[in-house]
Amino acid sequence: MSASVDAQTTVDGRREGPDALMFPSGFWWGAATAAYQIEGATKEDGRSPSIWDTFCAIPGKVAGGDTGEQATDHYHRYAEDVALMARLGLNAYRFSMSWSRIQPTGRGAVNPAGAGFYDRLVDELLSVDVRPVLTLYHWDLPQELEDAGGWANRDTAHRFAEYTQLVAARLGDRVAAWTTLNEPWCSAFLGYASGEHAPGRTDQPAALAAAHHLLLAHGLGAQVLRDMVDRDSQVSLVLNLSTVRGIGSTPADQDAVRRVDGLLNRIFLDPVFHGRYPSDVLEDTAALTDWGFVRDGDLAAIATPIDVLGLNYYQPVLVGGGEPAGDQRPSAWPACDAVRFHQAPGPVTDMGWPVDPTGLRDLLLRLRRDYGDVPLLVTENGAAYADEHSTDGAVHDPERVAYLRSHLAATHEALREGVDVRGYFVWSLLDNFEWAYGYAKRFGIVHVDYRTQRRTWKDSAHWYREVISTGGLGNA
Ligand code: FCB
Repeated sequence: MSASVDAQTTVDGRREGPDALMFPSGFWWGAATAAYQIEGATKEDGRSPSIWDTFCAIPGKVAGGDTGEQATDHYHRYAEDVALMARLGLNAYRFSMSWSRIQPTGRGAVNPAGAGFYDRLVDELLSVDVRPVLTLYHWDLPQELEDAGGWANRDTAHRFAEYTQLVAARLGDRVAAWTTLNEPWCSAFLGYASGEHAPGRTDQPAALAAAHHLLLAHGLGAQVLRDMVDRDSQVSLVLNLSTVRGIGSTPADQDAVRRVDGLLNRIFLDPVFHGRYPSDVLEDTAALTDWGFVRDGDLAAIATPIDVLGLNYYQPVLVGGGEPAGDQRPSAWPACDAVRFHQAPGPVTDMGWPVDPTGLRDLLLRLRRDYGDVPLLVTENGAAYADEHSTDGAVHDPERVAYLRSHLAATHEALREGVDVRGYFVWSLLDNFEWAYGYAKRFGIVHVDYRTQRRTWKDSAHWYREVISTGGLGNA
């Protein structure tokens, strides 16, 4: 796929030339979701509880006491939702699979009823020419595997490789792109260090072991996929990466940037692309663990070549030297006792996240600079706003349109600089269960009335359809 684009527009808003902001032909225009956030039907067809079912049942863990039990009822409405994707003009759809539907105990034979759902979904997508982009693991570990130690236990990586084999054997001929894991940073550090996500543990050494075992699972899974799936399909990993900036440039500020960049970005990127952990991260965390969980051969497996790297970007991170704010404990950030996280000035989304597309452009440029010419997909980008139906029956979301537009312009700017970006996926197709925030945060370009399950296109969905049909932002 060629990345040649000849417009001259910057994320700062300058536009020159009639071809401004056209994307390469063959660009993947997508939207993303995840199983637990949309499917519902948590007790159907032999599915067993995952760590998110357990976590949601603990009072105080999820806003409003919400759970994924109904979600957007996509398990039953998938055909309607795929028809919606076709009307939007998507040529790719990124979704995840519930491990608990495929292997209810996290091990052993396939549960045919659960697997059948994904057979039907993939066939439905193919029937309307939407590429299936399948994530094997988007945070919902079967509870039985957590009871055996979860991601802090090395065996979970081997269970993941076995699960990958079962899925590859069923769908290996029909999936355009495979992602092993979504955002292992969140699984490891929100799940095992800060406890904001399932399984809710607060144990920093366990979080570092979990990060390694997640990477090992990725590597073993990638090897399985390399052997078993269609040669044309892409093998990938999706990371939540960001641009980390300093509030100032004192040595303490620079040290804060280095530490946070190490724990968020380089701890995953360096093993995958360079076959080693960053030495400064190993040194910083030496008082918490001796990293003895890294065994011979692990790094070679983790560095199994991938075809494309997916990155999820929402906001840049701003840090400086200083005492962490009191509300940041227990902390997701090991060895960051002298790091303070700052709120960037300027507009924020309904999550309180700053809107800054230059962070995406800088991240894309940095990935090429530090990790080479690896093909990239923006696998998630989007914004939550408190959307409501207006009296005219529509859902007007001008801030989301502006957010998406500016981030697509940032992506385009990186393309123009020669970065090999092959596609863009809006988070999210539908409003859905936003983890610890429950249903209170709406990220969809399509509104969902959770009482009736009625779907209503927001203005951003109409806008995105226009972008896709014209191939860029020239007129949209
Ligand atoms: C990402 C997750 C996704 C969604 C968005 C808002 O970290 O991958 O499931 O929650 O954030």
